[in-house]
Amino acid sequence: MRYSFAMLAAAAASATAAPGPDADGKYTLTAPGIKAQFIPYAATLTNLFVKDKDGVERDIVLGYTNTSYYPVDPGHPVYNAIPGRYVNRIGNGTYTIDGVTYHTQLNDGPNTLHSGTNNWSFRTWNVTKFGNDSITFAIYDKANSSQGMPGDVEASVTYSVSANTWKISMDAKSLDVKSPLMLTQHTYFQLDAFANPENRTIWNHTLYAPSAKRALVADQNALPTGVIANISKDAIDDFWSAPHELGFASGNAEFENHCGNGCHGYNGALAFDDERNKQEVALTLSSEWSGIKADLRTDQDAVVLYTCNWNDGKTEFKDTQGVEGQDKFIPRDGCIAIEAQDYVDGINHPEWGRLEKQIFGPGQKYHWESSWEFGTI
Ligand SMILES: *[C@@H]1O[C@H](CO)[C@@H](O)[C@H](O)[C@H]1NC(C)=O
Ligand SMILES: *[C@@H]1O[C@H](CO)[C@@H](O)[C@H](O)[C@H]1NC(C)=O
Ligand SMILES: *[C@@H]1O[C@H](CO)[C@@H](O)[C@H](O)[C@H]1NC(C)=O
Ligand SMILES: *[C@@H]1O[C@H](CO)[C@@H](O)[C@H](O)[C@H]1NC(C)=O
Ligand SMILES: *[C@@H]1O[C@H](CO)[C@@H](O)[C@H](O)[C@H]1NC(C)=O
Ligand SMILES: *[C@@H]1O[C@H](CO)[C@@H](O)[C@H](O)[C@H]1NC(C)=O
Ligand SMILES: *[C@@H]1O[C@H](CO)[C@@H](O)[C@H](O)[C@H]1NC(C)=O
Ligand SMILES: *[C@@H]1O[C@H](CO)[C@@H](O)[C@H](O)[C@H]1NC(C)=O
Ligand SMILES: *[C@@H]1O[C@H](CO)[C@@H](O)[C@H](O)[C@H]1NC(C)=O
Repeated sequence: MRYSFAMLAAAAASATAAPGPDADGKYTLTAPGIKAQFIPYAATLTNLFVKDKDGVERDIVLGYTNTSYYPVDPGHPVYNAIPGRYVNRIGNGTYTIDGVTYHTQLNDGPNTLHSGTNNWSFRTWNVTKFGNDSITFAIYDKANSSQGMPGDVEASVTYSVSANTWKISMDAKSLDVKSPLMLTQHTYFQLDAFANPENRTIWNHTLYAPSAKRALVADQNALPTGVIANISKDAIDDFWSAPHELGFASGNAEFENHCGNGCHGYNGALAFDDERNKQEVALTLSSEWSGIKADLRTDQDAVVLYTCNWNDGKTEFKDTQGVEGQDKFIPRDGCIAIEAQDYVDGINHPEWGRLEKQIFGPGQKYHWESSWEFGTI
């Protein structure tokens, strides 16, 4: 890259003035043992660097090297973004509040996914605060801008870092009428940063979620049926009785279509015990190869796990990842998205008792908080 006079002048100014984005539009936060970078598009985390067991910095989340590609990518996997205002699926694209039935856009087979068109993960958020270790993004979502979502919503996400830790805090308000609100940080991990020269799949990563003893049973379109099942020890969804490799059940016949037709592995929700201590670690993801482990703490009552079945092997990972001399393609099953949130499609299941955690009106506050603490095993 050639440096123009204007760019040099801007660089000189930014050394003394308040910090701003770099030439790629990334905002960088740093603390001991961690560096996190963000762009306003979809309030996305683009890079997350932590040290592996040998002290090598690894960029452990998915994304694109080219930040201009996020808005135009037709696949739009919501890489480490904030989908909203109601994340995941709405069964039949229909829900009812106070006797009024609303219809949302069917963009995922017979259902709505991530609120349909003009969802939050397709918009450039405003940066309202930025410092060395914290950034806040805000969005003002007009009524019906996602079809079938009534009332204006005001929301923000604050990302901050401290020693080895990334914290995420979200707030939202529905200003005029009652609206569904359910958010998540849709984080995709690959704790080896695709640098394991032998294997890029996620199957040898290990997951442990000791209080995730129930699963939301889902149909062939990954929509919950309403049944919440206890997970027995060593069953396909058992990550509670002991840490299990994500591929531990790959020999089971049911693994093949476990997350819907043609979808092997995981794309479903697990519910945490209601009485668990929310200050404690809810879930740990680790990889023996890099030795990196990630501990999730969250105030949410469920988590969606998606083991990247739909990766077609044609998308490349970032320049900050992989091994010199190898290609950069992400294989099927090459990552895992871990999305702390409330129960999927709870607005259509009053029997679950989730309505007051998913429908908000004037004067009420939606809040979501999680953190990831990184270390080595
Ligand atoms: C980055 O992506 C944008 C949008 O697709 C494209 O126009 C641009 O050429 C890309 N830049 C590079 C260096 O590939
Ligand atoms: C969706 O519609 C079908 C057919 O009308 C019905 O059987 C099913 O229960 C509905 N599901 C939800 C979640 O509303
Ligand atoms: C989100 O909105 C964009 C822009 O309107 C649209 O192209 C996209 O299909 C929507 N994505 C989903 C998952 O609904
Ligand atoms: C932010 O980081 C810069 C560069 O390391 C440093 O000069 C500055 O004092 C820091 N500001 C605060 C508020 O910590
Ligand atoms: C950002 O702020 C401007 C000015 O207040 C507003 O017009 C715009 O809608 C905001 N963008 C988003 C995504 O909320
Ligand atoms: C909201 O969107 C739905 C679906 O597109 C449409 O039927 C309805 O008329 C819209 N409502 C308003 C107030 O624009
Ligand atoms: C990677 O490991 C998984 C789990 O052991 C295995 O199923 C897969 O075949 C391996 N892939 C390669 C390219 O070795
Ligand atoms: C699930 O386990 C709980 C606690 O052990 C028990 O009370 C409940 O009846 C079980 N539910 C089903 C559907 O088996
Ligand atoms: C990777 O996972 C597979 C399937 O669970 C297992 O058979 C294999 O031993 C694991 N490999 C390593 C190196 O742990």
